[in-house]
Amino acid sequence: MERRRFLSLMATMAGVPFLPQCARFATAEAGPPVLTSEAGTLAVDLTARLSRVSLAGQSATLMIYNQQIPGPRLEASPGDRVTLRFTNALEEPTNLHYHGLHIPPTALADDPFRTVAPGETALYDFRIPDQHPSGLFWYHPHTHGWVANQVFHGLAGPILVRGPDDVLANGAVAEEAILVLQDFDLNRQGQVLDPMPPFRLWGRQGRLITVNGQVQPRFGVPRGKLLRLRLLNASASRIYRLQLANHPWWLAATDGLTLAAPVPQAAVVLAPGERADLLVPGDQSPGSYALINLPYDRGITAMAQSMMGHGSRMGHHVGEVDQPQTLALIDYQGDAATDQVALPPGLGTVETLPEPSVVRDVVLDHGIDPETHDPFLINGRAFGHHRVDTQVQVGTVEDWIITNKAGMDHPFHLHTNPFQVVSRNGQPEPLRAWKDVVNVRAYETVRIRIPFRDFRGKTVYHCHILDHEDQGMMGIVEIV
Ligand code: C2O
Ligand code: CU
Ligand code: CU
Repeated sequence: MERRRFLSLMATMAGVPFLPQCARFATAEAGPPVLTSEAGTLAVDLTARLSRVSLAGQSATLMIYNQQIPGPRLEASPGDRVTLRFTNALEEPTNLHYHGLHIPPTALADDPFRTVAPGETALYDFRIPDQHPSGLFWYHPHTHGWVANQVFHGLAGPILVRGPDDVLANGAVAEEAILVLQDFDLNRQGQVLDPMPPFRLWGRQGRLITVNGQVQPRFGVPRGKLLRLRLLNASASRIYRLQLANHPWWLAATDGLTLAAPVPQAAVVLAPGERADLLVPGDQSPGSYALINLPYDRGITAMAQSMMGHGSRMGHHVGEVDQPQTLALIDYQGDAATDQVALPPGLGTVETLPEPSVVRDVVLDHGIDPETHDPFLINGRAFGHHRVDTQVQVGTVEDWIITNKAGMDHPFHLHTNPFQVVSRNGQPEPLRAWKDVVNVRAYETVRIRIPFRDFRGKTVYHCHILDHEDQGMMGIVEIV
């Protein structure tokens, strides 16, 4: 009784109505369709096309894979071969990137420099290494200059690697729900709006937030069981700050890769490209619990205000993201009181990396590149297609000290090799975890440790606010 009143009060304070016990029986929301490997091969036909689809109860014209929003879920196991026939039915160049997969950055695998022309069909063919960790990864376009617009039109899909290292294996230990977060800005006709000029710089955002292409879908947690929410931020620029209102949850994986043990969480900040697995023990009162997106300022409010004044419409438009919003509902099935649900004490091991042999500085800033005139810079330069910015050696460990000199967050992403965050602003990072995107907040310094393992070749690192990537905040790393 006391607890319920307290929760209700908390919810009101957070601006979210407390949701009373729900008469309607919860149904686990059907996620995106799944394409699974058979006999060691995942054979996929994927087509990117501008299509008319139903999005959140309205008809919308989006760029999507296989007529689905989000794109079909690809599932494979370590050791599997992936053969993917990709057709570009758009009227502009595109390609595919397999975000977070540890596969070669070359040839028919994860080459970000490859371009698939309009009308062209291209083959991707690679093996997922035998020792590849389980986890949630994703695919999206990566043709420089076109990425923000294509992702903002919907092009994105999840990839699941399922291996023996996953102690939470679906159904056995935990039920699973994959939640792909996207945002859209549509006009009355359902067409994606071009961003207003400042949003081309800040990173385009949409007022319509969808989970698996739906508004406020419901997910069921059976009482007495564990639910694993697997969240993917597939938005072009939006940073989410997520909370499960009135309900505990535990972080189990970052960017798909498991932690050593579950860690209780309050809010989870998810920058574009980031993933988080959260465990929800089904041992609270029956009812519906809201997954809410809390206000998060990535630096654009102050910029908008200094540009346009406090009361302007633009300020209002930016302020719109400062309202808590319910993104999804977690429904409890069953009504009897239940014992506490035990969490698995251990999820895996996260190795301690050796001290680095090289330490580098990576400075993120705004300015003007002398050649390209692009405004987003890494170490004073905007992206140059033919310039290797960083050369590293296979078999070594490096520390990169990433300093954000600008008044806006820049989520830093590296292809091919995941890393561990060592410290933030000189303070040691309490949690040892693998990441492939780390949000470097305005004026913050983050030190990461990267083992460059098996794969050689050229690939990229960049800001995952995709307008920033398109406008220069990307560099080339060559692994030799
Ligand atoms: Cu998710 Cu280089 O990208
Ligand atoms: Cu990536
Ligand atoms: Cu950025």
